[in-house]
Amino acid sequence: METKIIDGKQIAKEIRIELKKETKRLMAEGYPQPKLSVILVGNDPASETYVRNKIKACEKVGVESEQILMDASVSEEALLSEIQRLNEDPSVNGILVQLPLPKHISVDRVIETIDPKKDVDGFHIQNVGSLTVGDGKGYVPCTPGGVIELLKRSDIPIDGKQCVVVGRSNLVGKPAAILLLRENGTVTVCHSHTKNLKEICQSADILVVAIGKAHFLSGEEIKEGAAVIDVGINRTEAGLVGDVDTESCMGIAGAITPVPGGVGPMTIAMLMKNTLAAYRVQNHIQ
Ligand code: GUN
Repeated sequence: METKIIDGKQIAKEIRIELKKETKRLMAEGYPQPKLSVILVGNDPASETYVRNKIKACEKVGVESEQILMDASVSEEALLSEIQRLNEDPSVNGILVQLPLPKHISVDRVIETIDPKKDVDGFHIQNVGSLTVGDGKGYVPCTPGGVIELLKRSDIPIDGKQCVVVGRSNLVGKPAAILLLRENGTVTVCHSHTKNLKEICQSADILVVAIGKAHFLSGEEIKEGAAVIDVGINRTEAGLVGDVDTESCMGIAGAITPVPGGVGPMTIAMLMKNTLAAYRVQNHIQ
């Protein structure tokens, strides 16, 4: 079987082009420029790279951006009051606090302080609630949203398919499972306590792997023809690798996302999509 490589970079570019058109059109109608504020605490090199790429994406779609850098020793109180300031600034449509945060800061408190209407990460409990009940009001978290978009734009049907999600994090695994369920997939979530993980993975038509362990799965755990979506980005001596050993899946999987160049670029494209959605809400645009 020939394995199709799903080109996340190209699909993300297509999304950015669509969003840029929308931004241009709305600004031509007299609306202000959309704006995203990104807060980065400390100087973790990986986070710095992610933030840089988010700022670059803003430029590409015509969104104004600002980067707010805070020292790793910043107090939780100072961070929360900066978020409050951004909540109250009508020129700011989206607020993103790059994770992880230093240990002395409560991630939950930070997320709950962000105005849900500006929570373009989709992490606020109100947005998580909207996602779960499917009322269409909230923002979908960017990485799982990107997973669904990749499947749809690659013409991979979800309806009625056996979907297996490996990993149950609040950022990826859980929301990915909910989104697949919303698309009428039959969803199983595997995690560190799952007993027969290998067999469950072998049953998947769609396998989403978000466990954060380099080459955790290989071709042996893949059903012939399955779509494999690798969310992992692991820094190893051999460079960036996914949670799946892509090479060993070639000729077995029907389609697979590469690392890098698969889900990663989609996360940022979906952030741009959420930023424009937030801008529409705040400017009362249908
Ligand atoms: N760190 C890793 N992924 C993400 C993400 O999607 N959003 C934020 N805010 N931080 C992250």
